[in-house]
Amino acid sequence: MELLKDSFGRILHYIRISVTDRCNFRCQYCMPREGIKWIDHRNILRYEDLLFLCNVLANMGAGKLRFTGGEPFVRKGFPLFLKKVREEFPQAALSVTTNGSMLASVADDILSLKLESINISLDTLDPQKFKLITGTGNVQDVIRGIRSVAIHSDTIVKLNTVLINGFNEDEIGDLLLFAEREGVLLRLIEFMPLHGDVWNYNRFISADDILSSLPDANSWRDDTSESKDNAGPARYLVNTLTGQRLGVIAAVTHHFCDTCNRLRITSTGQVLPCLFSQKGVNISNALRERDEEMVKKGIIEAIKMKPRRWLDMESGDEHMSRIGG
Ligand code: GTP
Ligand code: 5AD
Ligand code: SF4
Repeated sequence: MELLKDSFGRILHYIRISVTDRCNFRCQYCMPREGIKWIDHRNILRYEDLLFLCNVLANMGAGKLRFTGGEPFVRKGFPLFLKKVREEFPQAALSVTTNGSMLASVADDILSLKLESINISLDTLDPQKFKLITGTGNVQDVIRGIRSVAIHSDTIVKLNTVLINGFNEDEIGDLLLFAEREGVLLRLIEFMPLHGDVWNYNRFISADDILSSLPDANSWRDDTSESKDNAGPARYLVNTLTGQRLGVIAAVTHHFCDTCNRLRITSTGQVLPCLFSQKGVNISNALRERDEEMVKKGIIEAIKMKPRRWLDMESGDEHMSRIGG
């Protein structure tokens, strides 16, 4: 674990690995409608490289691996890759972040892996609005995907809703009802100004404003049962009347950098110390050469570059789909 400690004493044992920059959706807040230029396959790490990476990370003390994209399931062989990771690292907490559109067809295989959590994006339940925000998505596919995994009690299913003023601020009550009915956890995420011209103040609404606008606003309290070692950007609330839980990721209005435990690795082997980092350390050659010491060195170098908080640095211009959130 000491190897994963940054200059401010934070231990980065939660690693987010992006397996592809590609996605079948074009969410407005993530990439431009025309898409972005996909990275050449030759520059993307192979699954064998990623398995080696997981090995090195495990040797360094990483306990949690979350696989992201783009959309991880658009990459051929992703379920099989996950199975191999599970076999090689039976003790690791494994999670996936997905848009859910392709989940239904692979749900049985995925559920057999006993993942810790599956996080699925869902910004609206309205088919037209869903098409508008995702560009290409069909909300029914995602609902089917959610249902196909929600029945399983070992894996926590979380829905990620990005709060967009003038788009879904009036739908949060419906999304809460939907989540309760499906037995999944809704999380509200503040819209982050990560790149380009999509973000503007008119489209931003804070999580506090949304929470106070709910008809049962007074019933939501901090959920003190949430364990602290699960430190992350999400704060959890519980409804004292219904018992429903709700997550809030106030990425813009509240600062949680002090307790950050994450390190990100892109599909090209770039180790990014922060979601907002411009620069990282590329370990792709070391991975391809199976040079454990060089891989470790690169990871440690990136950890040393981790800022105390993202406000201390200039934000990058990389698209969210390439970083994996
Ligand atoms: P768990 O706590 O394991 O469920 O992970 P998570 O909430 O980080 O995962 P997920 O992939 O579902 O991401 C949800 C949202 O949190 C996305 O919008 C991420 O960009 C945002 N997020 C995740 N990590 C960070 C971080 O380190 N900093 C900031 N500002 N946002 C983050
Ligand atoms: N602000 C907040 N959340 C975002 N996501 C993608 N782009 C943004 C943004 N600009 C979310 C997606 C997905 C998660 C990985 O990141 O909705 O659930
Ligand atoms: Fe794809 Fe997720 Fe980006 Fe939407 S937010 S375009 S689903 S990577």
